[in-house]
Amino acid sequence: MKAMQSYEGAIARALFSQAEIAAAIERLAQAIVRDHRRMPLMLVGVLKGALYVAADLARAISAIPDGPSEIGVDYMCVSSYGNASRSSGEVRLLKDLTEPVAGRNVVIVEDIVDNGLTLEYLRALLGERHPASLRACVLFDKPYHRTVQVPVEYVGLRAPDEFVVGYGLDYQELFRNLPYLAQLRPEVFTDG
Ligand code: IMP
Repeated sequence: MKAMQSYEGAIARALFSQAEIAAAIERLAQAIVRDHRRMPLMLVGVLKGALYVAADLARAISAIPDGPSEIGVDYMCVSSYGNASRSSGEVRLLKDLTEPVAGRNVVIVEDIVDNGLTLEYLRALLGERHPASLRACVLFDKPYHRTVQVPVEYVGLRAPDEFVVGYGLDYQELFRNLPYLAQLRPEVFTDG
C-alpha cells in the first residue's frame, strides 16, 4: 500500500456511520435474544474481522433483560484473503477455539459474508462437533458473488458490491480501527 498521512486521504466515501452500525448491532442482539431466552449462549467471533462486532454484540445481548442465562465468548482465527482485496477461495484455520462447543447453543459471529466459503467452512467445522444448535450472525452482507448458498440466520446491513474497510475489516491489515464502514479510493489498491 502507498504511504499516506492519514486514513482520510484514502477513503472515497463513508457507507455506514458508527451510529448506523450500533443500531444494526442492537437489532442483531434483539434477534439473537429472541432465539436464546434463558438459554446458555456461546458466541464464536471470527478473527480478525469480527474483533469489534463480537465484543459489541456480546455487550448488547447482555444489556437486554430476560436474555440468555449465560453468555460465553470465544474466538477462532481463519484466513481467506491474505493481504489481497480478492478472495483466494481457500480457507485456513489459524487458531481454533479454546472451549468445546458440544451441547452448546453456538452463534458464529462474522464481520462480512462475500462468496460464503469462510462461513461454510466454519459451519461444517463446528457442526461436526455436535453443538446443541448452530446459527450464524453477519454484520455486513455482500450477497452478489456467492459461490455457496450458506445459511445466515442473522444479517445486519447490506454492503454494496465493493471492497469495504473499517469496523474490523482491513485492507492489508490497515483500517480495522476505523469506527465506520468505508470504501477506499481506487488508487489505494496496490494488488490490482
Ligand atoms: P467470503 O469467504 O468471501 O465470504 O469472505 C469472508 C471473509 O473475507 C470475511 O470474513 C473478511 O475477512 C473477508 N472479506 C470479504 N469481503 C471483504 C471486504 O469487502 N473487505 C474486507 N474484507 C473482506
